[in-house]
Amino acid sequence: MAGPGSVTLLELDALSVGRPEYGAVLSDMSLSLAPGERVGLVGPNGAGKTTLFHTIAGVLPALRGGVRMTGKPVSAGQFRPDIGLVFQQAEDQLFCPTVIEDVSFGPRNLGLPAAEARARATRALDQCGLSGLEDRPVHHLSGGEKRRACIAGALALQPDLLLLDEPSAALDMRQRRRLIAVLAGMPQAMLIASHDLELVLELCPRVVLIDQGRIRADGPARAVLGNAPLMDAHGQEVPHSLTPHHPAGHLHVRSSP
Ligand SMILES: Nc1ncnc2c1ncn2[C@@H]1O[C@H](COP(=O)(O)OP(=O)(O)OP(=O)(O)O)[C@@H](O)[C@H]1O
Ligand SMILES: [Mg+2]
Repeated sequence: MAGPGSVTLLELDALSVGRPEYGAVLSDMSLSLAPGERVGLVGPNGAGKTTLFHTIAGVLPALRGGVRMTGKPVSAGQFRPDIGLVFQQAEDQLFCPTVIEDVSFGPRNLGLPAAEARARATRALDQCGLSGLEDRPVHHLSGGEKRRACIAGALALQPDLLLLDEPSAALDMRQRRRLIAVLAGMPQAMLIASHDLELVLELCPRVVLIDQGRIRADGPARAVLGNAPLMDAHGQEVPHSLTPHHPAGHLHVRSSP
């Protein structure tokens, strides 16, 4: 919950999400995000990160509790131009014949004139290193290019909140570095779900750790990611840059083998 006087962009209020065939996937999640805040969402495979993003974006319904953006409830099935979701699987997101059509789809759906939608898409493609591929069929892109096209599609919407699901997966080193620089320069609030904990450390002052559909920790990134017993208990490892190193070499100083 946000404190008195603080401004809240996103608020999860005791959110539970379930599927008839599997029971609860998310249980009793409460969280708030301020405008412009960047938060890393970490946790093991199956923890519920993608499910949480789909619920926030209104793709999945809540079972109990709710999601509010700037105080207003988010309902499943609504078009929410203020929330930009980058899907974990690029194939779930890209559906237009060409790259430029796909990336300008969001701005066009906002009702922007064609020229402005195209200008936004062109800029987003440039930010994502895809200039020159505007007219390429999306199914002719490489895996990393598809991922970058998905990110460009979300950036072109210029939403208040970006939900980035494994944004660095499939990116080469240079494109990963470019992505970090682009995201670091953006004013929007972001939730970044990632197993790339170094990226999370670079971009997010705050980290939320989830496991088995529940929030297990929520605090400063270095405190959460640097807490070895906590990380170990939830199938994670303290990232390399927070691991003490032996001065004589590059051996990690660990208490256990
Ligand atoms: N379409 C679906 N139908 C039923 N259960 C699902 C579906 N999608 C995901 N689940 C289940 O919900 C749980 C949470 O999955 P989710 O995809 O949210 O995890 P995640 O934290 O994003 O994992 P990963 O790190 O592997 O991406 C898992 O147990 C998963 O098997
Ligand atoms: Mg996922």
